[in-house]
This record gives sequence, structure tokens and C-alpha cells, in this order.
Amino acid sequence: MWRDAIQQVLISEAELHRRIQALGRMITADYRGSELVFVAVLKGALMFSADLARAVDLPLTIDYVALSSYGDRQVSSGRVHLLKDLSETIANKHALIIEDIVDTGISLQYLWNHLMSHHHPADLNVCALLNKRARRRVDLPIKYAGFEVPDAFVVGYGLDFQQRYRNLPFIGILHPEVFAPGPW
Ligand code: IMP
Repeated sequence: MWRDAIQQVLISEAELHRRIQALGRMITADYRGSELVFVAVLKGALMFSADLARAVDLPLTIDYVALSSYGDRQVSSGRVHLLKDLSETIANKHALIIEDIVDTGISLQYLWNHLMSHHHPADLNVCALLNKRARRRVDLPIKYAGFEVPDAFVVGYGLDFQQRYRNLPFIGILHPEVFAPGPW
């Protein structure tokens, strides 16, 4: 079983479900009567954005952006660029960035600056499923945060290591041997 590569389940499928329903209720209450657009970040926020959108009881639109990723490493290079921009305008709309995880905060700062300077939303907020504060270098306000996570490399529910493990239905920590070359 390739799930054997997981050392510890940090957040179970049921916990993810419960928290996302709660986030959906908060967003529904806060954005009632306004034109809401999700700006979800590929590929990590794919599962989260799909489940969160269904937990929000409001008409909304969903768009995707893609940022350069870590590549095959587990640490951020600190250099970010945009691989895919928005498909629709968000000018004068209430935009909510949907992120999988905020680690150093560098990607989020890059995206925030890009959206504010090129796309002019009426307002911009952040919803991140996971918040890894230990290595934060840039602190932007995260209006909706799902869970705090420790300083460990986590995978599952959209988050990958070398593009794998995104389809695990929970968030887990990989065995250290997985980072070394092996049969995984
Ligand atoms: P930051 O720019 O350092 O905040 O990193 C943000 C991006 O790095 C996230 O959107 C993820 O794609 C990736 N990332 C950061 N930590 C992890 C992790 O523990 N597992 C998988 N991806 C991660």
C-alpha cells in the first residue's frame, strides 16, 4: 500500500470535512449580498476549493491561478512567478484567495501584490486550509484559516511531494525515507 509512506495522519478526512463546513458557514455569513469570487491556487487548493465552494451557500464564481512550485524540493526557493493568470475579471468583485498552505508566506505575498496591482478587486481576503507559522517570513492577514500545522512536510488532500500524494483524502506527514530515493 502506498499509504504506508505516511508516518502520521495529522488531520483526518472527517476533521477536514467538519472544519470546511464551518469555514463555509463563516464565509456565507460574511459575504451575503456581495459578489464573491474564489481565486484558488493550483494545484494544491484543488480539493479544498471544490469542497469549500460546496459549503458556501451563496452564488459565487471560481477562477484558478497557478504559481511556480517548489519543484522537487521541500523548501521554498523564495522566487515565485505566475504560471497561469485569472481567466475572468475580478475588478470590483469581492475576491477570496483560496490557498492550500501558507508556509513562508512568500507565494501569498506575490499573489496578493499581483491581484491588487493588475486586477483591482473591490476587496481581497485569504482563506488557507493550513497555516504553518514556524517558517513565516512575510505575514499577511489570513482571514479564514483551517488548521495550524507543525513545521513538517505534509501531503494529501491536494498537497503533494513531487506531484504525488495529492489524492490522499487526509493530511499526513511522510516517512523520512520517502524523501530519500527508494521504491515509493
Ligand atoms: P510559501 O510561499 O513558503 O508560503 O509556500 C506556499 C506553497 O508551498 C504552498 O502553496 C504549497 O504549494 C507549498 N508547500 C509549503 N509547505 C508545504 C508542505 O508541507 N507540503 C506540500 N506543499 C507545501
